[in-house]
Amino acid sequence: MTMLASVWIVLLAVNIQAGDGQSVQMDSIKSGFVGSQVELRCIFVNSNPPVKISQVTWQKFLNGTKQNVAIANPSLGVSVLPPFKERVTFKQAAVRHRTPSLEDTTIMFSNLRLSDEAAYICEYTTFPAGNRENMVNLTVFARPLTRMTLTTPTIVARPQKRKMTVATCLSANGKPQSVIKWDTRLKGEATFQETQNSNGTVTVRSNYVVVPSRETHKQKLTCIVTYRNERITDSVVLNVQYEPEVKIEGFDGNWYLNRQDVSLTCNTDANPPVTVYQWKLLNGSLPSTVEIRNNSLIFKGAVTYELAGTYVCDATNGIGTRTGLVEVNVTEKPMARGPPGGILGVLGGVVAAGLLIAVAVTVFMVYRRQQKTRTETDNDLIAVAVVDGTVVTQPPPSDSVAPPPEPDTVVTQATEKPESPTRKVMAPAPSLPSTGTTPPRSPPLGPCILLPACNGGLKLIYLSTRL
Ligand SMILES: *[C@@H]1O[C@H](CO)[C@@H](O)[C@H](O)[C@H]1NC(C)=O
Ligand SMILES: *[C@@H]1O[C@H](CO)[C@@H](O)[C@H](O)[C@H]1NC(C)=O
Ligand SMILES: *[C@@H]1O[C@H](CO)[C@@H](O)[C@H](O)[C@H]1NC(C)=O
Ligand SMILES: *[C@@H]1O[C@H](CO)[C@@H](O)[C@H](O)[C@H]1NC(C)=O
Ligand SMILES: *[C@@H]1O[C@H](CO)[C@@H](O)[C@H](O)[C@H]1NC(C)=O
Ligand SMILES: *[C@@H]1O[C@H](CO)[C@@H](O)[C@H](O)[C@H]1NC(C)=O
Repeated sequence: MTMLASVWIVLLAVNIQAGDGQSVQMDSIKSGFVGSQVELRCIFVNSNPPVKISQVTWQKFLNGTKQNVAIANPSLGVSVLPPFKERVTFKQAAVRHRTPSLEDTTIMFSNLRLSDEAAYICEYTTFPAGNRENMVNLTVFARPLTRMTLTTPTIVARPQKRKMTVATCLSANGKPQSVIKWDTRLKGEATFQETQNSNGTVTVRSNYVVVPSRETHKQKLTCIVTYRNERITDSVVLNVQYEPEVKIEGFDGNWYLNRQDVSLTCNTDANPPVTVYQWKLLNGSLPSTVEIRNNSLIFKGAVTYELAGTYVCDATNGIGTRTGLVEVNVTEKPMARGPPGGILGVLGGVVAAGLLIAVAVTVFMVYRRQQKTRTETDNDLIAVAVVDGTVVTQPPPSDSVAPPPEPDTVVTQATEKPESPTRKVMAPAPSLPSTGTTPPRSPPLGPCILLPACNGGLKLIYLSTRL
């Protein structure tokens, strides 16, 4: 059963492929570059019963018209027609030597031209089966000539800031056509232009346009040409000439009387380099104590009021002259060097320390309050002192009477938990000695309680609460 089915399938396949027994086998497409050689295959499949091959004809088929290329006849031999005579040969020697075996009439097509691009038909004339033919499409590629050029070896940056083409990338006479792209950090733009040639090739040209400037000097510009699956890159580095960029250095705003060894330097960035530096003083002539050394002005001796003025440096290179100037003033005394940041730093420290103490005191007060409510004491008075950065508190003697708060009373509001209004530190500095009882001069908890020595600490708290 299975065997039978297989035989049927094979028979069916052969029938479909070969029709009534004969076929012409060819590649459907073929390609080659201009100047190269291609093989156009043509095989006659002659099955049982075999037919007689009367003639094989190769034809070029273009634009609806057919043109004979080569003819092989078993009795008359081989003929390659004029426009192809030098470039087309049958691959099999047997065909060339008039042997009547024309099963393989593959041709070798050499030195390809663009005009060879066409469909090629291989036609078998047989007896008694009639004609059998097939077709191959031949594509001819042309490798483009790719080239990148700088517009000029050196580009001059003009003050008018006009855009100009600095480089051109060309991919000439390519088939299929190439694609040009640019890779650079320059902020320019590219223009593209393509020309269709009559022979089917395309020339692609791209210009890179940029405003030449100091910033574009030494920038790399890369052209990337993609032809089929090939990438061709070419790079240039721009050489831009520009006027000097001038900056006078040396005046720090602190030229005071009798200061020694001051100088001014004319620093420039220029391409080509600066050849001439010229110094002058606006509204006057240069002081006699000055010495010009290349691009520097060296002031000999001490600073005097005569040095004040506007100093001008003219720097010249092959492109032009640019000017830099600095206004020099002379003060009697050196400038105060105290930066205001120092004071701010000290203030910040004070604030931080104050806050720390305030928090500590508040925490302690909360604790005291709770204790007090438990022991039913109505004594609010607490002494606070700061000794070596630690908060020391001392409750007053139990028989003391709480005085009304005085204007100098230090009140620290707890900022962390504002929902609790009881969190207050009351430390009236001058009220403690007026409690009637004599406070201990040297209490066990600390060296002092609100004694003059502790004023600094208290003031610290006061300061922090007011800030
Ligand atoms: C193909 O035919 C068209 C019109 O018939 C003609 O314009 C064109 O030039 C022909 N091309 C070639 C390659 O012969
Ligand atoms: C080959 O070329 C012919 C005519 O130019 C066209 O009709 C056909 O589709 C092409 N075949 C292939 C496989 O490109
Ligand atoms: C195609 O034509 C262009 C322009 O006429 C020519 O420069 C080029 O060499 C030609 N290419 C080929 C492969 O003939
Ligand atoms: C001196 O020059 C410096 C820097 O230019 C400037 O900051 C300062 O105000 C000037 N002083 C006087 C008195 O003109
Ligand atoms: C300095 O020179 C400028 C221009 O050269 C002029 O306008 C100005 O009046 C002069 N000042 C003095 C004080 O000479
Ligand atoms: C001036 O410049 C030249 C070259 O630029 C250098 O050789 C020379 O030492 C410089 N002179 C001084 C005084 O700096």
